[in-house]
Amino acid sequence: MKEQFDNEMKLEFISKASNESFARITIAAFASQLDPTIEELADIKTAVSEAVTNCIIHGYDNRQGIVKILAKLQGNTIIIEISDNGKGIENIELAKEPLYTTKPNLERSGMGFTIMESFMDNVQIESIVGLGTKITMSKTIKKQEVEEEEFQCITKE
Ligand SMILES: Nc1ncnc2c1ncn2[C@@H]1O[C@H](COP(=O)(O)OP(=O)(O)OP(=O)(O)O)[C@@H](O)[C@H]1O
Ligand SMILES: [Mg+2]
Repeated sequence: MKEQFDNEMKLEFISKASNESFARITIAAFASQLDPTIEELADIKTAVSEAVTNCIIHGYDNRQGIVKILAKLQGNTIIIEISDNGKGIENIELAKEPLYTTKPNLERSGMGFTIMESFMDNVQIESIVGLGTKITMSKTIKKQEVEEEEFQCITKE
């Protein structure tokens, strides 16, 4: 791993639905180095969850495969790449449309990409049919203003 970023990590796991929360929590733990607010962290977790679920359900069609995550920190920004070597996306523009899903019977609402795009600053989709899909998303964590804390003085008698 080249030291090009302030920090970098890689995660690889089998495409089991039970690993979705593992991935979400692991990336949240890594992202917490940037001191995000609870809301910012929740946004990152939701976006990771959507992308990982897509790899498992669509990329691998619930067959076994490997999901890879590469996360990098640069300044206040986290960049997350989530990829599979599954079936790929035929029409990326269509896949990004809100409510578009190829699995309507599986309680899918077709909102995964819309959610990723609204919760992250930038989302890029690269896909080759038969080879797989890579989602690259980033979010810049806003600098928080340090609030002056009020201390209560407790005097001992
Ligand atoms: N990793 C992937 N591999 C192959 N196809 C994908 C992948 N990710 C998304 N797609 C395709 O893009 C479509 C839209 O994805 P999106 O996440 O927006 O909706 P969804 O997964 O169908 O529904 P939801 O996310 O709301 O449960 C999917 O229905 C699927 O056809
Ligand atoms: Mg989805």
